[in-house]
Amino acid sequence: MNLPDLNEARKRTDKEVLYLENDNNIKNMFDGKKYFLKTYGCQMNVHDSEEIRKYLELLGFNETEVLEESDIVVLNTCAIRENAHDKVFGYLGRCKHLKKEKPELIIAIGGCMSQEENVVNEIKSKHPYVDIVFGTHNINELPKLIVNAKGSLDIEVYSNEGNVFENVLYSRDSKIKAWVNIMYGCDKFCTYCIVPYTRGKQRSRKIDKILEEVVELKNAGYKEITLLGQNVNAYGKDLNDNSSFSKLLEETAKIGIERIRFVTSHPWDFTDEMIEVIAKYDNIMPYIHLPLQSGSSKILKLMGRRYTKQDYLDLYNKIKNKVPNCAITTDIIVGFPNETEEDFNETLDVVNACKYDGAYTFIYSPREGTPASKIKDSVDLKTKEERLYKLNELVNKYSLEANKNYEGKNVKVLVEGINEKDSNKTFGYTETMKLVNISGGKDYIGQIVDVKITDAKSFSLDGEIVELR
Ligand code: SAH
Ligand code: SF4
Ligand code: F3S
Repeated sequence: MNLPDLNEARKRTDKEVLYLENDNNIKNMFDGKKYFLKTYGCQMNVHDSEEIRKYLELLGFNETEVLEESDIVVLNTCAIRENAHDKVFGYLGRCKHLKKEKPELIIAIGGCMSQEENVVNEIKSKHPYVDIVFGTHNINELPKLIVNAKGSLDIEVYSNEGNVFENVLYSRDSKIKAWVNIMYGCDKFCTYCIVPYTRGKQRSRKIDKILEEVVELKNAGYKEITLLGQNVNAYGKDLNDNSSFSKLLEETAKIGIERIRFVTSHPWDFTDEMIEVIAKYDNIMPYIHLPLQSGSSKILKLMGRRYTKQDYLDLYNKIKNKVPNCAITTDIIVGFPNETEEDFNETLDVVNACKYDGAYTFIYSPREGTPASKIKDSVDLKTKEERLYKLNELVNKYSLEANKNYEGKNVKVLVEGINEKDSNKTFGYTETMKLVNISGGKDYIGQIVDVKITDAKSFSLDGEIVELR
């Protein structure tokens, strides 16, 4: 294992790095010890885990994928729905068991659940064997918390902090594609959503800092970057310096990195300039995740989404007209409090109109502290489950239809690695974000190649490399 690169750390002066740097014993402190890192939730957490991993490695830990082998367990948690909570508390049970056999095991909990007061109280009262609770605003303090872990519960969580971190260190999951965080938090306060409470208000990074990071990634050989935020279209609105997402996207495209993606777009802030920039640059991928949430204007209003069914359809059509090959996926919630059959049918109506390439569908889950959780709900769970089932049938029909259009066609695929299920295959993604399982292709990992699609399934395509003559 490599020792922490202190020159790199010195160059990048963030306070946690200085802390690591100032204590000569720290780098050896956990040498030979192992860490187990489990990530729940969205891409934001996946990217935060790349930061957490870097700190663990700077402290000398090696990664293990076997919980029982670990000396420290870090759970990076998600709070978006109740079942996310249940999963984490279920997993904590396993950790507790392990700690009985291995009392020196350090258990750390971070991520969005740590930002919830009721969760922290539950940990205090029911899970005192946990060593560290750290929040989404102070991941940078994790090294200090680990070094100082005393075998008793230590909670360091800040609410609504306004920090924007620069020069963050990451141990990235891939050498081919990378996340680039463009903003923290979210200001939208959709009435069902906990994210503005767990991640704080929107804070955009300065455009030149983001572009610097993209240039670094390009120079390091990365082929693809994804600009990351809860609501990327609102990028820059908090900076008051005329920054906007369309400007950032255009400047990023000019750097010339081969593939640029972005998540997530909110229909509310989606401007015509953005659509024009997406259409203009070949290295901005024709793929947009455009959450609908509901097709009923009445429910959308109650959700605080600030667009109507018609606004959404107009935007959808505008995008499809300007970027004809654009793939569009969505998120949909069924069973928002008091959603009627007619409301639900409006959602099906939009799905029928948009024929999405794919959709993530959820049953509404009340989150403590959000406005929607106070609404008395008359719809029973069975009805909600039936609606979800019906919606999924429709969504899957259109995903398969969209994928079938690819059969027999040649598409550009960035080959990312060996297929987990079949080592004779590789996998990668099309420009439109379709997963392709490729026969062979090992020599092409990290490259964008032409692939002929031989078969289409609901959630993936099969293909073979088109050999250049
Ligand atoms: N910022 C992104 C979404 C982040 S959460 C956006 O606005 O699009 C991802 C998805 O989880 C949301 O789009 C929504 O569909 C779903 N979700 C959020 N809160 C939920 C809740 N309380 N119950 C069920 N689904 C929820
Ligand atoms: Fe949640 Fe709405 Fe913000 Fe998305 S835009 S994170 S759904 S509050
Ligand atoms: Fe979950 Fe937090 Fe993301 S609540 S969905 S991990 S922002």
